[in-house]
Amino acid sequence: MASKTVNLTELREHTSKDDIWVLINGKVYDVSKFIDEHPGGDEVILSEAGKDGTEAFEDVGHSDEARALLPGMLVGEFEPSDVTKAYQSTATAAAMENAVQQTSNVMYFVPLAALVAYFAWRFYY
Ligand code: HEM
Repeated sequence: MASKTVNLTELREHTSKDDIWVLINGKVYDVSKFIDEHPGGDEVILSEAGKDGTEAFEDVGHSDEARALLPGMLVGEFEPSDVTKAYQSTATAAAMENAVQQTSNVMYFVPLAALVAYFAWRFYY
């Protein structure tokens, strides 16, 4: 079954709720019919629409039963030469999230450092 190869452009075309494809572990799945039955809700799958949802899928620790549903939704293999590109878009998003996180850490750190400097100054002089 499913000898089709799906490339990144094609994957990205299927992002609406009634036409939704997700890439998981190198294979593309059409989850349109399943999404309403998903025990984890539709939102989480929708946010992976047209993207590499491998990390999201694996982070949850889906059961073997959940994995057994995948073959029934298979569209095809993902185009191997597009793997890095699909990964990069997720990696870029992760890097941006990290940057935002770091900025807010700095925002805590600056007043804290000022406070420490002030008390150090009071103590020594
Ligand atoms: C696309 C194929 C997917 C299938 C076939 C699937 C299937 C399932 C199934 C059967 C369960 C019930 C628990 C289990 O058996 O592990 C479940 C739970 C869950 N799934 Fe998925 N899932 C898919 C994608 C995703 C994605 C992309 C996310 C994104 C984070 C996600 C998040 C969750 C969460 C959070 C739960 C836990 C719900 C709870 O226990 O309250 N799933 N999924």
